Amino acid sequence: AYGIAVLISGNGSNLQAIIDATHNGSIQGQVSAVISNKKEAFGLERARKAGIAQAVLSGDDAIAAYLQDLAPQLIVLAGYMRVLGAAFTHQFAGRLINIHPSLLPAYRGLNTHARALAAGDTTHGCSVHFVTPELDAGPVIAQSTVPIQPHDTSESLQSRVQAAEHRLYPQVVAWLAAGRVELKEDQVWFDQSPLHAPLQV
Ligand code: GAR
Repeated sequence: AYGIAVLISGNGSNLQAIIDATHNGSIQGQVSAVISNKKEAFGLERARKAGIAQAVLSGDDAIAAYLQDLAPQLIVLAGYMRVLGAAFTHQFAGRLINIHPSLLPAYRGLNTHARALAAGDTTHGCSVHFVTPELDAGPVIAQSTVPIQPHDTSESLQSRVQAAEHRLYPQVVAWLAAGRVELKEDQVWFDQSPLHAPLQV
């Protein structure tokens, strides 16, 4: 079976969307473990309820050792709020993806919703990308765009983006599990052709 390890630090709403998609068959695979660097992360409770193994680990080396044992096909960062080092990202290159709450390459790093509002943007969104050593700079697989409304706050915008994330992330994981998305020589391939722009979900 296609095994998926999910790394979290908090709520785990994206983790839940992925678990749900494995249960309803839209992802052909299973979440084999949830790893958190925070013992109080609510996502661990979601894993427990779903009967999925949970681990609380800190540091790249401890996580890499656990993953080496588990040998998942895919490692999914879902609100994992620590930066992974180059040794880790190289070890799992092509099997490591992240979701980021902006239309990359815009707004790498933190506080993306406030920055999009401050810039007067009229659209915003989220991106799923392969993870490389440079933070939030790996090849983008797919994005979802949402409108920014005149009265948005960073909270209202965040909830609109998160709703988009919960559609986007399971879709990208489903494509990876089906072998439709691959990373080859730093380029994203979809259905055996190189992507020239991120897929729009
Ligand atoms: C998500 O919105 C994700 O895009 C963001 O954290 C949230 C986690 O929510 N990730 C980052 O900011 C990565 N730098 P969740 O725990 O409910 O899935």
